[in-house]
Amino acid sequence: MTSILEQLKDSVSQALVSAFGTELADTDPLVAPTNNPKFGDYQSNVALPLAKTLKQNPRAIAQSIIDHLQLEEMCEAPTIAGPGFINFMLKTDYISKLLAKIQPDERLGVPQVEPAQKVIVDFSSPNIAKEMHVGHLRSTIIGDAIARILEFRGYDVLRLNHVGDWGTQFGMLIAYLREAYPEALTTADALDIGDLVSLYKKAKVRFDRDDQFKQTARQEVVKLQAGAEDSRHAWQLLCDQSRKEFQVIYDLLDIKITERGESFYNPFLEDIVSELEQKGLLQTSEGAKCVFLEGFTNKDGDPLPLIVQKSDGGFNYATTDLAAIKYRVKEDGAERIIYVTDSGQANHFAGVFQVARKAEILPDTVEVVHVPFGLVLGKDGKRIKTRSGETFKLKDLLDEAIAHARQDLATRLQEEAREETPEFIDHVARVVGLSAVKYADLSQNRTSDYKFDYDKMLDLKGNTAPYLLYAYVRPQGVSRKGNIDFSQLDTNTSIVLTEKAELALAKHILQLEEIIKEVESNLLPNRICLYLFELSQKFNQFYEQCDILEAKEPQRTSRLILADLTARTIKLGLSLLGINVLERM
Ligand code: ARG
Repeated sequence: MTSILEQLKDSVSQALVSAFGTELADTDPLVAPTNNPKFGDYQSNVALPLAKTLKQNPRAIAQSIIDHLQLEEMCEAPTIAGPGFINFMLKTDYISKLLAKIQPDERLGVPQVEPAQKVIVDFSSPNIAKEMHVGHLRSTIIGDAIARILEFRGYDVLRLNHVGDWGTQFGMLIAYLREAYPEALTTADALDIGDLVSLYKKAKVRFDRDDQFKQTARQEVVKLQAGAEDSRHAWQLLCDQSRKEFQVIYDLLDIKITERGESFYNPFLEDIVSELEQKGLLQTSEGAKCVFLEGFTNKDGDPLPLIVQKSDGGFNYATTDLAAIKYRVKEDGAERIIYVTDSGQANHFAGVFQVARKAEILPDTVEVVHVPFGLVLGKDGKRIKTRSGETFKLKDLLDEAIAHARQDLATRLQEEAREETPEFIDHVARVVGLSAVKYADLSQNRTSDYKFDYDKMLDLKGNTAPYLLYAYVRPQGVSRKGNIDFSQLDTNTSIVLTEKAELALAKHILQLEEIIKEVESNLLPNRICLYLFELSQKFNQFYEQCDILEAKEPQRTSRLILADLTARTIKLGLSLLGINVLERM
């Protein structure tokens, strides 16, 4: 389908051309949903900025647009408000017809893109031998949601885990383990990641203090890079150990991702540097090879460099990202590359993108986007930490969410004097706990910091996962109570929308398509959360104000269809966020 918003935009654009000529063909029609139903459902503000260009009064312009609009099927006669806003009110008949059209459709009217553009989503990307931290959790949750949304729209998505599995830290770690824990370098599972992390810290201390050790560590890097067998084997073991730990988190959160770590691009790094050299972009500064960036300066106003090869010959994070861009464009055929990391890496990506464009590794036809996000804070507004001041282990964080959800459920069961099986309780606690964590993250505008607060994320009343899950469960309850199979409802029933609550719910259901299309371009999943939250609120109002099972026909079937469409919209919307629904909770 074409969303209502797109249809209105097209109509206003056409009216602009018919009324004022083709010079206005590219003018943005400025149509948006209204935030107050008093002004109808949608509004166009285009007449206001045109007043200057056309040297006419905006109300007169609005009137000319209306005179040329052809929207009889869709809208009541548009009206002009205030200085020249055009208000559109959808016809109830039209809404009923659209609902009837999407009812049998599994995709609820949301079309697939064609052709399927190739998109890479680079997300999660923790570092080997280091703990996966809350920043990686955010990247994992947001990146997975973005990938799911694009997949649903039919893009050819490649999910990549750009793990930090290469670099000088391995020399340091291997050198240290040779002394302190040699069996770890030859035997699988000799260490767990906790040990690995603390050994890493000790190795780092040695490295910073002991010059002799520093030398040894450097030699280890050289050996590893040269492909010495025992070094490769040790490196492999360390990676496997970390990988297993990461997988525990991915399994819990139901994340699918392909690992293609930094080491993968190792063979291409030298070529990247020569390519930059050939293209005349390289300069040497204090022995390091770098490209000076435009628009990035230090305090004194001097241009900042992007260092691609250090004076000791080693390559950088940025060099790997340049090689990765080249590979992703040439070999993977990517047309859009999305990087999900904390906002702290904004300059890194801006620099890398600039150099890649200049070096023509990145053609204009390929879009690259950094999707930044803010910090995870504790309840107190400070960086999240455990009581002992250590950073949280992600596994513990998630387990605790499940434990909180279990506690809430136990309280509710007791209040309602309900008995449930242990399997039911386990399942509900797990789904609710994990959904709450995902949803709390996704429902914030990702660019802001967010406070990690179990009570808030599990609250049954706010903009939370449990609230939405509950709004899904309600229609299922109706179906059980009335012994109704939603999939067998008579599709020839015309949908009657006489009550205010019915109409508001119906209109909201029909916005799904425009919301998904919006998020597909701005990559802000919180827009979907808000949409689903408002849908749930509107459903709850409808549920409280309108009889469903007790209503007479044709209302009864019509309302059952509305309930079913709401539930399916919530289920679909949540699935795009990586959240599963429950039939009962
Ligand atoms: N490993 C990096 C980190 O932990 C994130 C990598 C993001 N992806 C990329 N292509 N640079 O911060």
